[in-house]
Amino acid sequence: MISARSARTHDSIASSDKRHIDMIVEARSLTKRYGDLTAVDAIDFGFEAGRCYGFVGPNGAGKTTTMKMVYCIARPTAGTLKVFGLDVCEQPREIKAGLGVVPQENNLDPDLSTCQNLIVYARYFGIRHEDAAGKCDELLGFMHLMEKARAPIAALSGGMKRRLVLARALLNDPRLLILDEPTTGLDPQVRHLIWDKLLELKERGITLLLTTHYMEEAQKLCDEVLIMNEGRKVDGGSPGSLIRKNVPAQVLELRVDLAAAGEAVARFPGMEHQRSGQNLYFYSRDAAEFDEIISAYPGAERLIRPASLEDVFLKLTGMEIR
Ligand SMILES: Nc1ncnc2c1ncn2[C@@H]1O[C@H](COP(=O)(O)OP(=O)(O)OP(=O)(O)O)[C@@H](O)[C@H]1O
Ligand SMILES: [Mg+2]
Repeated sequence: MISARSARTHDSIASSDKRHIDMIVEARSLTKRYGDLTAVDAIDFGFEAGRCYGFVGPNGAGKTTTMKMVYCIARPTAGTLKVFGLDVCEQPREIKAGLGVVPQENNLDPDLSTCQNLIVYARYFGIRHEDAAGKCDELLGFMHLMEKARAPIAALSGGMKRRLVLARALLNDPRLLILDEPTTGLDPQVRHLIWDKLLELKERGITLLLTTHYMEEAQKLCDEVLIMNEGRKVDGGSPGSLIRKNVPAQVLELRVDLAAAGEAVARFPGMEHQRSGQNLYFYSRDAAEFDEIISAYPGAERLIRPASLEDVFLKLTGMEIR
């Protein structure tokens, strides 16, 4: 089985710096510039072992760039970043040995079969050929891909390719699994399968670090969410605390025509609201306070629901969910 604590060598690495023993990742004023563009702008964060952390933010917010610095393929321009207590600029090889990575784009080898993709990758971690075959079977079973073991990559659906990349990320029994948009573009069934697997991995003690555009995914998986916008961290905390801190508990969603949208906002100035095109969102602690608005727009499509991370995202980034 894949054991969360099998990477004992990494435990001894981490214990070399007692202060960071429970901090799997720690960033201080972490910055990445590409020429004149500041993709990541002096952000701070600290991740404890065994929990799930999520970065959310609009396209171009700097999420992938941050992930790439954590998995040591992009070098920070300024600030410090430690993974397993080790500096990413000084000991990238040691860090990479303890990481599993699911990059934003599937980077499978199209010339190899499903199983060969795992076997060849296992070599990078020094896994012996005879051990790699057993590991390959175990991981294909875990990701429900056994029947595709001999299939060429071209014969896999998008969801199968994503599951294979996840299987590949588990080959070296990572302590930290980094997933850049693990379920983007996948059908709900595959998405749920991946969520179940990620929760199972977390149960085994693996620390998860992911990015997502699905607020439902962030809410379901993450103990803590960091909201990024234009390279900066705009807020962070548990999904529940972010919601309580940023928006009243009840939401009235109203879909009206564009002219009416402006009018409705002006007509109820006392109530907190957000507008996204023809969609209006009114916020209140008490849903009864929506009655007046509802009766003013009897024909409008409407929904009353509890506030969610989507409302927080909209408020803090001024963007609609992709
Ligand atoms: N190698 C690079 N060279 C130059 N600019 C880059 C490079 N990589 C990223 N950028 C820029 O850095 C900014 C942040 O990009 P990044 O990919 O980190 O965003 P993201 O939050 O992951 O977005 P998305 O949600 O679209 O994946 C963008 O403006 C992007 O164009
Ligand atoms: Mg990205």
